[in-house]
Amino acid sequence: MESYRSHVLICGDTGCNSSDSPQIQEKFTEELEKNGLTNEVKLIITGYHGLCELAPIVIVYPEGTSYFKVSQDDVSEIVEEHLLKGRTVDRLMYHDRDSEEKIPYYNEIDFYKQQERIVLRNCGYINPDSINEYIAQGGYEGLAKALVEFEREEVTEEVIKSNLRGRGGAGFPTGEKWKLAGQEPAEPKYMVCNADEGDPGAFIDRSILEGDPHSVIEGMVIAGYVIGAEIGYVYVRAECQLAVRRLRMAIEQAEQLGLLGENILGTGVNFTLKVVEGAGAFVCGESTALTRAIEGRRGMPRPTPPRSTEQGLWGKPTVVNNVETLACVPYILANGADWFTNYGTPKSPGTKVFALTGKVKNTGLVEVPMGTSIRDIVFDIGGGGIQQDNEIKAVQIGGPSGFCLPEDKLDLPVEFDTLDDAGAMMGSGGLVVMDEETCVVNESKLHLKFIQSESCGKCTPCREGTKRMLEILERITEGKGRSGDIELMKELGDMIINTSLCGLGKSAPNPVLSTLRCFEDEYKEHLENERCPAGVCSDLVKYQIVPDNCIGCTACARVCPVDAISGEKKQPHEIDPDKCIGCGECLKKCKFEAVVLG
Ligand SMILES: Cc1cc2nc3c(=O)[nH]c(=O)nc-3n(C[C@H](O)[C@H](O)[C@H](O)COP(=O)(O)O)c2cc1C
Ligand code: SF4
Ligand code: SF4
Ligand code: SF4
Ligand code: FES
Repeated sequence: MESYRSHVLICGDTGCNSSDSPQIQEKFTEELEKNGLTNEVKLIITGYHGLCELAPIVIVYPEGTSYFKVSQDDVSEIVEEHLLKGRTVDRLMYHDRDSEEKIPYYNEIDFYKQQERIVLRNCGYINPDSINEYIAQGGYEGLAKALVEFEREEVTEEVIKSNLRGRGGAGFPTGEKWKLAGQEPAEPKYMVCNADEGDPGAFIDRSILEGDPHSVIEGMVIAGYVIGAEIGYVYVRAECQLAVRRLRMAIEQAEQLGLLGENILGTGVNFTLKVVEGAGAFVCGESTALTRAIEGRRGMPRPTPPRSTEQGLWGKPTVVNNVETLACVPYILANGADWFTNYGTPKSPGTKVFALTGKVKNTGLVEVPMGTSIRDIVFDIGGGGIQQDNEIKAVQIGGPSGFCLPEDKLDLPVEFDTLDDAGAMMGSGGLVVMDEETCVVNESKLHLKFIQSESCGKCTPCREGTKRMLEILERITEGKGRSGDIELMKELGDMIINTSLCGLGKSAPNPVLSTLRCFEDEYKEHLENERCPAGVCSDLVKYQIVPDNCIGCTACARVCPVDAISGEKKQPHEIDPDKCIGCGECLKKCKFEAVVLG
C-alpha cells in the first residue's frame, strides 16, 4: 500500500466548486509535480466540509492545519511553505473575529467545536469516490452485522430501540415504519430514498450524497433487508448532478465488492439500487407524489390512507425514508441503539443537521445533538448576527412552509415534540436567521410565492387559497392593503390548512400565520401607515435627508442610480420622492446619519 507523508484535503463540494475548487485542485497537482512531491503528498478531493462561508477549504494532514478562502494564487505558497519547509501559512488560517487570534485547526473553531458530527462525520474527511476510504472509517460494518449477526426482526428491534425518527420532516419512528411494511403480506416490496430536497436554501441531503454516498447506500440495503425489499430507488433531483454522479459511482463500487446486488456478502440477500432523476417539483418530495413520479406518472399527491407502507410503488408495500434518516442507520447498527440514544434527548435521540443561512455570520451545514437550543445554534455556532449593531429578530425553521419563531423563542430546543408543542416544526432542517433589517411581511410573501407556484393544483383550497393569500400579501407590501386584510388572511390560512389534501397545502400558510402571531404590528404598519419598518418593501420606503445632519458631501448623489438626489456641494441635499426607487444605496453611503427612512 502506498504511504504518503502528507495528505492535502480539498473540499470539492458544490459550494467550494463554485469558488474555484476545481482550479485549485489543478494548481495543487501542478505545484506538487513541479516540486517533485507527487510521491510524498496525496491530494484528496472530499465532500462538503461545512463552513461554506469561507470556501474553498483546504486541510493539510497529518497536522490538520486548515486554510480558508484559498485562491489559486495561494497554492504555490502552501506547497512551498507548508509542504516543503514545514511552515504554516498563517494568513490563510481562520482568525477569531474578536481576538483576531489565529486558529490553526478547524475543529477548534467555534463553528465546528460545538457540533456533534455523526451523519456528517465523513463529509469533508474522506474521498466520496473511494469505497475503500469509507470502509476504512468503519463503513459497511453495520450492514455486515445486520446480515450476518442479526435476524431480520432483531435489526428492526435495534432501530426501534434507537428511537430514530424520520429526518424528512414529520419525525415518524423509522423502525416502526419498517415493521409496518415488513408485516404486509403483498410482494414485492420496495425501498425508496427521498432525496428530492426541494426547500430553497436547504442542502443537507444533497451534501450527504455528495460527501458520503455510501452511508446512504448502506442504510438502504439494511432497510431493504429488514422489510424484505430486493429493489430500492433513490429519487434525486436531476439538477444535483454532482450528487447523482457520486451516487452512481458509489453504487458501482458497492456492486463490485458484493455489498450490493445479488447474494450480498454471501448471505443470499439480494438488493439492487436504482437512481431516478427527478425534474424538480417541490411537491414530488411528498411521499405519495414521489412514488408516482418514480412510476413515471405526474407527481401528484393522493389521499392517505392507504399509506405507502401498505400501497406505495406500483401499489406494493413501500418504505420512503429521507437521506439523513438512512445515513444514521449504519452507525446505529455498527455501534448499537444505546450508543445512538446517548446523543440528543429521550424522545428525539441522535443529532439533526441544519442548513444555517440568512443574517448570520457563519452560514453552512451544522450538525447538533437534538435538544440543542436554537440560540446556541445561531449564536455559538453561527456567530450571531451578520451586522454587529443589528438585533436578531427571528428565525424561520422548517423551510418555506415552516414557522417563524421570534427572538424570545430562541431558547427552544431542537426536538420534534417540543417544537410541535410550541406551534412550530423541525421540518427538513432549514434555519434562516432574520434581523431587524428583515421585513417579515416580505419574507412571508416570498415563502408563499414559492409554495403557491409549487402547488400541484389538484385541490381547490391549496390551488386557489394560496393565490388569494398571495394577492393580499402583494397588495399589503405595495401599500394598497385594505382594512380587514389581516383577518381575511387568518381565515383563509385556517381554511387552507384544514381542507387541503396534502402536506404542501396544509403547511403553506404557516409562515404567514406564524408571523402574524408575533409580528402583527409590522403587518399593521404596512397596512395602516403604508410604512415598512425594516425598509425593505420598496413601494413603502420613503427616503429623506435631514437637512441639519447633511454636510453636502455629495456621496449619496453619486451612488443614486436614478439621479434622485440634488444639492450643491457643502449644502444640504434633497431627495426627489417621484424619482426615488427606494434602493437604499444613499442610506448605506451616508456617514452622517443624514439619510433616514420616512
Ligand atoms: C410538500 C412536501 C415536500 C416534501 N419534501 C420532502 C423531501 O424533499 N425530502 C424528504 O425526505 N421528505 C419530504 N417530505 C416528507 C415526505 O413526505 C416523507 O414524510 C419523508 O420522506 C419520510 O421519510 P422519513 O420518515 O425518513 O422522514 C415532503 C412532504 C411534503 C408534504
Ligand atoms: S394540497 Fe396543494 S400540492 Fe397538495 S394535492 Fe392539493 S393542490 Fe396539490
Ligand atoms: S451622503 Fe449624507 S451628508 Fe453627504 S450629501 Fe448625502 S445626505 Fe448629505
Ligand atoms: S433610495 Fe436609491 S433611488 Fe432613492 S434616493 Fe437613495 S439612492 Fe436614490
Ligand atoms: S462546499 Fe466546501 S465547505 Fe461548503
